[in-house]
Amino acid sequence: MEVISHSNQMRRTADALRASGKKIALVPTMGYLHDGHVSLIRCARKQADVVIVSLFVNPLQFGPNEDFTTYPRDFDRDAALMEGAGVDIVFAPMVEDMYPPGFQTSVVVHHVTKNLCGLSRPGHFEGVTTVVAKLFLCTKPHLAVFGEKDFQQLVVIQRMVKDLGFDIQIIAAPIVREPDGLAMSSRNAYLNLEERKAAVCLSQSLFEAQKLFTDGQRTAALLIDAARKRIAAEPLARIDYIKICDTETLEDIVTITRDAVMAIAVFIGKARLIDNIVLHV
Ligand code: PAJ
Repeated sequence: MEVISHSNQMRRTADALRASGKKIALVPTMGYLHDGHVSLIRCARKQADVVIVSLFVNPLQFGPNEDFTTYPRDFDRDAALMEGAGVDIVFAPMVEDMYPPGFQTSVVVHHVTKNLCGLSRPGHFEGVTTVVAKLFLCTKPHLAVFGEKDFQQLVVIQRMVKDLGFDIQIIAAPIVREPDGLAMSSRNAYLNLEERKAAVCLSQSLFEAQKLFTDGQRTAALLIDAARKRIAAEPLARIDYIKICDTETLEDIVTITRDAVMAIAVFIGKARLIDNIVLHV
């Protein structure tokens, strides 16, 4: 496994791989890897000759009062996991390399960034699309894998790729969960034992709503109420949002007559956790 820390070297390596006919897959991450990330790497491994994982905690996508400085980092642990999962190249640039002095350009996707996490985290998706566009330009992948765990991020990236004409296939990978249902996340590391137990209310609230949906309930407000009650029963949890949205436009839905995503964001201790399920009609 090769570790590349300079974007110029990454570009040259990607050019050489492309010139020799290799199919490149990129898995963008912020590190502190878990089995969710590993599932993305495995998915990439199946579809490409060369798997590049980028490891970069992107300051642009964190708000001023968010966890950029405390975000968990452990390069050696990540490197061992990546090696085991068959990664060929780790691209781990420094902040000054990605954003040198004078940097002032950003990529903005306008509509699908407005709702959900876009409401709670102004500027977040602009940071995501800017870094992902840069990562695409450095690693020159034929395909890139993103997790449905960050459903809105996936929709935003798909929109950016379409609108800017990136010749990159975006592959969506399903959410990987802990045995009790909690969606895996690097931020789960913030939870103490008690908070970890409480965090199961996120997935349980979604699964309860999904059951009502399967039983025929199509009124979004009633499904949201059921989920809200489940989370309200957990004293350590504070709801940021619970919404049901169109899977393409991400606009709120009143009655579910087409595929919808039920998405939630909940604070537990100092962790802000997100989860979602897709409700297929
Ligand atoms: P990060 O949170 O490290 O996630 C990297 C990728 O792993 C994302 O595509 C995310 O959706 C996926 N992922 C995280 N948890 C998952 C789970 N439990 N199951 C399946 N996939 C999961 O998302 C980011 O980093 C950043 O915003 C990034 C795209 C790298 C840009 O900085």
